[in-house]
Amino acid sequence: MSATTAVTKDAIMAGLAAVPSPDGTPLPRTGKLSDIVVSDGKVFFSITVDAAVVQSWEPVRKAAETAVRAVAGVTSAMVALTGERTGARGAQTPPQRPQAAPSPHAGHGRPAAHTAERQPAVPGVGAIIAVASGKGGVGKSTTAVNLALGLRDLGLTVGMLDADIYGPSVPKLLAIRGRPETLGGNKLKPMDGYGLKVMSIGFLVEEETPMIWRGPMVISALTQMLREVEWGTLDVMVVDMPPGTGDAQLTMAQQVPLRGAVIVSTPQDLALIDARRGIAMFNRVNVPVLGVVENMSYFVCPKCGERSDIFGHGGAEHEAERQGVPFLGAVPLHMDIRETSDAGRPVVATAPDGPHAKIYREIAARVRDQIGVGAAGRAAPKIVIEA
Ligand SMILES: Nc1ncnc2c1ncn2[C@@H]1O[C@H](COP(=O)(O)OP(=O)(O)OP(=O)(O)O)[C@@H](O)[C@H]1O
Ligand SMILES: [Mg+2]
Repeated sequence: MSATTAVTKDAIMAGLAAVPSPDGTPLPRTGKLSDIVVSDGKVFFSITVDAAVVQSWEPVRKAAETAVRAVAGVTSAMVALTGERTGARGAQTPPQRPQAAPSPHAGHGRPAAHTAERQPAVPGVGAIIAVASGKGGVGKSTTAVNLALGLRDLGLTVGMLDADIYGPSVPKLLAIRGRPETLGGNKLKPMDGYGLKVMSIGFLVEEETPMIWRGPMVISALTQMLREVEWGTLDVMVVDMPPGTGDAQLTMAQQVPLRGAVIVSTPQDLALIDARRGIAMFNRVNVPVLGVVENMSYFVCPKCGERSDIFGHGGAEHEAERQGVPFLGAVPLHMDIRETSDAGRPVVATAPDGPHAKIYREIAARVRDQIGVGAAGRAAPKIVIEA
């Protein structure tokens, strides 16, 4: 059969019939499978089990992925394993966080423990930083991509994880097409975008598919993109977080062993309230806020070069000061940034000598200095930041 064979749910179920659960029951008969989403050869579903036994199901999850990939016409498969706390079980099943790592600090009872204490590091990855915002549309993804490229320009090896499961935009912003290769051990190979190693749910499922995901599936997908991708050795991983500060974002922030967070804000008052919420969210999970970037900060007239502070520029800087977090820099509202970003030609990569690239590199240098990483085996190159 050819790779264009239409994949049916029945074919997937037939493939899964050969995968036994820990007690030997064929997987399709366990009642633990979610609906199976098949879209253009890409297959996604989740297995939901009691949180206490989640570890014993991990080999089943892997075997299920292998079995699904072997089905004719399947081009990629992602099987999420979700632990559900029932709370009504006997003493043999103590409540346990899904996917939580054994930690010497476990059991201290704080509702939101430091992620670095609870989540194991990703082997080979130096520092993971989140780029977040309190609300959508403030230019978070644009900032994340250009910040990652700025860090690359400082000589660092940089990965980019698109954690915006509901609206992945990194594939578009970096003009990456195609699907990640599966390596031995079922790990995925990250894609390459302008020298960044990149993973996004957008490579794995169709754009409209993620909308139907339930919360636990989202967390599971995030964990897999973090831990089941062959990232290799990275100095820094930049995570483009989904917008907002609700429970979903909070949980996601807890799932990733973050060194720190960069908050993106526009200068308007409303956005600042949201920025405050963003800062508060990371404070709650004890992730240091590395600083605030004011995006669309001022407008430079493309004709005369005159700068106007149309939104009352300076609000984010003032707010950062008030909150006691560093101000990382101001990025102008500029057509070049918008056009390059939306066309998949980010300004730092495509106009490295221009004024915008310089601003992003300066922001990157401040971030680099905060997290104290340098390229492996090399002294971190210094760049001079003009006031
Ligand atoms: N400094 C800027 N100047 C001009 N346009 C910008 C700038 N920053 C971002 N944009 C544009 O604003 C729009 C939103 O940006 P982006 O997608 O990066 O925001 P976001 O915060 O990630 O949004 P979402 O909440 O949907 O994830 C895009 O069209 C982008 O090109
Ligand atoms: Mg975005």
